[in-house]
Formats: sequence, structure tokens, C-alpha cells
Amino acid sequence: MPLDPHNKPLRRVRVELGPRSYEAIVGSGLFARVGEHVRATLGSASKHAAIVADSSLPAELVDSAGASLRRSGFLVSTVQLDAAERNKSVREAERICTHMASARMERQDPVIAIGGGIVGDVAGFAASMYRRGVPVIQCPTTLLAMVDASIGGKTGANLEVPNADGTTSLLKNLVGAFHQPSLVLADVACLGSLPIRHLRAGMAECLKHALIARDVEQSGTHETDLFQQTTDIAHSLTEPDKGAMIDLIARNLAVKARVVESDEHERSTAEVGGRAILNLGHTFAHAIETLSNLSPDGDPSNCPLHHGEAVGLGLVAAAHAAAKLGTLDQRDASRIRGAVAALGLPDRIAGLPDNQSLLARMHHDKKVSAGRLRLILPHGLGHARSHFDPPVPVIEAGWNAVRA
Ligand SMILES: NC(=O)c1ccc[n+]([C@@H]2O[C@H](COP(=O)([O-])OP(=O)(O)OC[C@H]3O[C@@H](n4cnc5c(N)ncnc54)[C@H](O)[C@@H]3O)[C@@H](O)[C@H]2O)c1
Repeated sequence: MPLDPHNKPLRRVRVELGPRSYEAIVGSGLFARVGEHVRATLGSASKHAAIVADSSLPAELVDSAGASLRRSGFLVSTVQLDAAERNKSVREAERICTHMASARMERQDPVIAIGGGIVGDVAGFAASMYRRGVPVIQCPTTLLAMVDASIGGKTGANLEVPNADGTTSLLKNLVGAFHQPSLVLADVACLGSLPIRHLRAGMAECLKHALIARDVEQSGTHETDLFQQTTDIAHSLTEPDKGAMIDLIARNLAVKARVVESDEHERSTAEVGGRAILNLGHTFAHAIETLSNLSPDGDPSNCPLHHGEAVGLGLVAAAHAAAKLGTLDQRDASRIRGAVAALGLPDRIAGLPDNQSLLARMHHDKKVSAGRLRLILPHGLGHARSHFDPPVPVIEAGWNAVRA
């Protein structure tokens, strides 16, 4: 593995998007040198930097990033954000913009997003709006954000929308913009303070990438199959080897990068390829992640499910739906269930509504376009395809496979 000037392992993944191309750098202790990396990326014209930081992060983490930016000549100010879905809002994005305006920040001055997917999405959204777009540097601190949310340029906020009965629904990611980061810095040292439940949830997205990797990676470029590499790490998740983690994150970033490069704005409706392939497991997951009664282990104090836990269940459901359709061997569907369980994620769940209600919830998901339900299903291990309006028994086979 290549080393940085301080003899620490470092991986670089390039995202090729013409004038919006950028690099994702993965290493350990990177936050202490954020300033150097940002300066090298943005040049000397940038004067101010606005850090948007998850308020529950260890203070020394954010302080070391701020100190590094100051050493590199930036005037630094910090906005704290409480990472809750209700704060992934237009209101919080506006608060960040107002902060930047009061600091008199200009077009070339960056937002430095330090946190998980919530902070990254809302800070990226603010950066896309302020002065019609300023640079954003994504510094993900959860595994999910490192392998998924920090790259690809999707930013956004949830919207609280009134229902006819006087209640309101929080509609996820309803507003937003495509705004590619200028740089991604994934520092695995952050994972030391991340609760194990969130680490496991991030591994669900790694498993999703493994299930599409053979469509994306050039054959012969890696010694180990990504599915194998992902399940190998499962056994040491409580004390993961840093080098192995850096390798895994970089490989996941590369898988996502290749998919995003092929369809930056998710416009492809082809059955093969396109950014929608990243929704493998997600149409099932979205139908259950907003249900407040579901717990990963039956303990009500652990309700509701985390996104990654719902994705793990979604992958098991998609695998068994595919087995019913005949695009995946039953043996491979069982291997996928085994991988989810080995990662410490639930592979079955008690308290699910009946299949009819679940089907209705899937049809309400935003991935339904022009009245058609688009489901991504595995076609052999490592490949996936879009299926429009799959037969109901196929979807039901998926739900039955995860019902405890
Ligand atoms: N933009 C995209 O492409 C994309 C992709 C996937 C998910 N997302 C979004 O990402 C969000 C979920 O992201 P997430 O799973 O990172 O959740 P999150 O941002 O809510 O972070 C999870 C929890 O971990 C805490 N935390 C974060 N880093 C920590 C650290 N290093 N140490 C200790 N605690 C830490 C946070 O305070 C929070 O409580 C969702 O809103 C989802 O919609 C976006």
C-alpha cells in the first residue's frame, strides 16, 4: 500500500467527471492535515473556510482539522449541527448559508463538512446554494458516509409535508442538488469513536457494493473478490485492522465512483448499469426504515432501525426475490443472508406489516416513476439488474424471507 509523507498508508481514488473531477483520499490521521490537502486542491485564492461539524464528534477531531486549516492560511469558523434527520432541513441549510454570509465568504471559499451522511448532505446542500455554488470538502466520519454518502455529489434535505388528515410526514431527500465535492478525505481514525451499531450499518452498504462489484470492477484487478473481502472483515469489526479498513473503504469508493461516472445524474432507465443500480436493497429498505416499531434485536429501546440495518434486510429480501425470479441461485441467496448475519446485522425482523401494506409502501417510494416500481435484483453474485414492475409473488418472496 502506498504511504503518505508521514509513512502512513494512503489510498487515492479518482472520480472522473470532466470539469467536476475530484479525488477521494483514504488514510489514518488525515484530519490533522486537512489544510494541506484543501490548499493543494483549491489553490491560494480561498481565504475563509466554514467547518460544518457534527456536534457529537470528539472535540479534538474537529479542533485538529480547524488548526490544520489555520496553519494553511485559512480564516476558520465553525457551525455545529446536531445529526438528526429532523435537522437535515432547509432551515439548517439556510442557517449555514447565513453563517457564511456573516463571515463574508466568497465564491472560492469552501465548506468543510465533518460528520456522517446527515452533516455531509445538508452542508453540501448549503454549499450548492451559497453564491450559487461554493466548493465543498467532504470529511466523512461514519463508515456509511465514507463508502457512500460522501461521494457522488448528491446533497439535500428532508421536507416536512402536511397530510390530508392534519398530520405531517417527513419526506426524505425531497429537496437537494447535485453538487460534487472538490475533495473527499476519509480518515479511518474517526471510526474509533463510532458506535459499533453504526459501523455495522455502514458495512451493509459495503455488502451492497460487493453485490454489484463484478459489473463494475475490471476482472483480474483484485486478488480477492469484494464479497469475500467484506465478509472477512466481519469477524474483526470490533477491532478492525486499519490497513484492511483503508483498503476496503478505497475499494468501495472506487465501485461507487465507477457507477457515478457512468450516470452522474441518475438519468439512465436501462436495465443494465446506471446509477439506479446503487439502490439494490433500498426499495425494500425504504419501505421499513420509517416504521417506528422495528428494532434490530427485538429490544424496543433500539427502535427504529438504522438505514444500514434496513439495507441489510433489503439485501436479503432482494436476494430471495431474485431466487424466486430465477436470476440468483438459492445457494447464493443463502450466502447473502449469511453475510448480513456475519456482519451482526438483522437478517430477519419481527413486527413487519402484512405484505399488502408493504407493497403499498414500496409503491409510495420516490423510486417509483411514472407509476412503475423499479426494483434492483441480483443476477448471480456480483451482478444486478433493474426490473420494472416485477411480479407480486417475487416481491412477496422477498418480504417472506425477512419476516421473523
Ligand atoms: N448523499 C448520498 O449519496 C447519501 C448516500 C447514503 C446515505 N445518505 C444519507 O446519509 C444519512 C445517514 O448517514 P450516517 O449513517 O452517516 O448517519 P449520521 O450522519 O446520522 O451519523 C450517525 C450517528 O453517528 C454519529 N457520529 C458520526 N460520526 C461519528 C464518529 N466518528 N464518532 C462518534 N459518533 C459519530 C452522529 O452524530 C449520529 O448520531 C441519511 O440522511 C441518508 O439519507 C446520503
